Amino acid sequence: MIRPRKVSVFAPATIANLGSGFDVLGIAIDAPGDVVVAQRQAAPGLTFSMTTKHADVPSDAQSNVAAYVAQLMLDEFKIPFGIGMRLYKRMPIGSGLGSSAASSVASAVAVNALLPVPLDRRGLLRFALEGERKASGSPHADNAAPCLLGGACLIRKYDPLDVIPIPIKQSLVWVVAHPHTSIRTEDARNMLPKAITLQTAIRQWGNISGLTIGLASGDAALVGACVEDAVAEPVRANLIPGFAEVKEAALRAGAHGCSISGSGPSMFAVTASVRVAHAVARAMQKTFWGAAGIACDTYVSGINRRGATVRRVPPR
Ligand code: HSE
Repeated sequence: MIRPRKVSVFAPATIANLGSGFDVLGIAIDAPGDVVVAQRQAAPGLTFSMTTKHADVPSDAQSNVAAYVAQLMLDEFKIPFGIGMRLYKRMPIGSGLGSSAASSVASAVAVNALLPVPLDRRGLLRFALEGERKASGSPHADNAAPCLLGGACLIRKYDPLDVIPIPIKQSLVWVVAHPHTSIRTEDARNMLPKAITLQTAIRQWGNISGLTIGLASGDAALVGACVEDAVAEPVRANLIPGFAEVKEAALRAGAHGCSISGSGPSMFAVTASVRVAHAVARAMQKTFWGAAGIACDTYVSGINRRGATVRRVPPR
């Protein structure tokens, strides 16, 4: 097959942790997401540029994770051409929606699509994780894996990495509320306890196992009960103004469960229907404003099975 000379890649937002599955569970959703357009260029090396409305995203090639990931791949594969890349950075950073993973994955998938001999999707995960390491100091895979592979992913093990796609039944409808404030993942990780009690661990194991079964069987009530997080949420909730009120509002509006998306400040809720999901989204938005005076965006989505998608851009 003739290799493309120019591609556009969309990489979706992700809900990491799903409450109880800290660093081990994540799902891809349909929106928002980042876009990378990359093309072959005669000049060797990487030419990087960015379009965004978010003032705090680094645009220089040394600091931006998309550029960083692309450079890693160029260094490793020594291809006989250069790459011109533009990142359309749509997602805000520090949102809890896997923003750095989306940029890293979009970049890795775009560079890969231009390679003379591309890797398979799983082979790209290690590059995306280096982007995560650069962004937050930790190569956690619970955003990058579902963003790259789509669906729901279980990170069974980190050393060596073992990512297991969970065979989901597509009946749950997810709500994400993104309040207009930010939390640095690195800070939210540093505040976590270094050890937990056996009692807490038992509670968490039970919930993670229940979550996996609930995702596979499409049981909204089971998933909702199991997003209960005894480890990160009690500490991180304090970083999110209005957290308790928003969670209560989501449950009152019909959500089966509600917790922090990734390291926050976004919150997610799980519901059994599109109608209830929209009611929950409205309730969460209204309550973020009423309880904390913070505006928020909401998203309603099933699980995105495709993950990052590549489109060939035809030559002009
Ligand atoms: N599992 C990671 C954390 C996800 O909670 O720190 C960050 O998006």
